Amino acid sequence: MYTNDIKNIELKKFYSSIITELHKGVIKGKHPFHLFVYGSIENGNPENRTVVFRKFDDLEFIINFHTDYRSSKIVNGNEKNVSLLFYSKESSLQLRMKGISNVHYNDEITKESWSRTKEMSKECYTNTIKPGEVIENNKDYLYSGDPDKKDEIAFKNFSVVRVHVNYIDALKLAHDGHIRAKFDLIDKKITGNWVSP
Ligand SMILES: Cc1cc2nc3c(=O)[nH]c(=O)nc-3n(C[C@H](O)[C@H](O)[C@H](O)COP(=O)(O)O)c2cc1C
Repeated sequence: MYTNDIKNIELKKFYSSIITELHKGVIKGKHPFHLFVYGSIENGNPENRTVVFRKFDDLEFIINFHTDYRSSKIVNGNEKNVSLLFYSKESSLQLRMKGISNVHYNDEITKESWSRTKEMSKECYTNTIKPGEVIENNKDYLYSGDPDKKDEIAFKNFSVVRVHVNYIDALKLAHDGHIRAKFDLIDKKITGNWVSP
């Protein structure tokens, strides 16, 4: 668990407002933070993709999303340096984060997340052909087997990515002057500084 070591009162408030918005992003499907961009280096190349924000642990600063275990964003390794990008037009707030990603597969974490996953979302994991594979017709990946086996097959393709965030760059735009801060989450301590936007 992190201890908050931010001394400046205004900066501490800014940090708290960020935490509040992130929690809303998980719960509210229409919140701008419900989707974020996950960036990683795959085979030496930078890659970005949109994912759904599934869970937020503000004590350990861990951000979860779900993905197909066969997808290229994770098959190339675990424990890698990644970036996250959130933007809310409503609150004119951009969050750029850095962290370390960990992939969970067929463990207690994935089982718990699976139990909270809606049927509609589970459907994506029944695809018979792995993401990114070339197919002849655009729907050739759809599952057409035994409906009773669907759930079991889908869970085999399901994984949870947990990103341990270690750095946040927050920029809030305002007519009377933008504000920007950076926060380091190191050695279980959160420290922060205002920086020029
Ligand atoms: C609105 C939206 C939400 C998405 N949510 C997810 C998600 O939660 N998990 C996921 O793996 N892919 C999600 N995708 C698809 C990814 O952006 C991406 O296309 C896919 O995961 C393959 O990425 P990869 O080839 O880098 O592994 C979403 C796409 C869109 C447009």
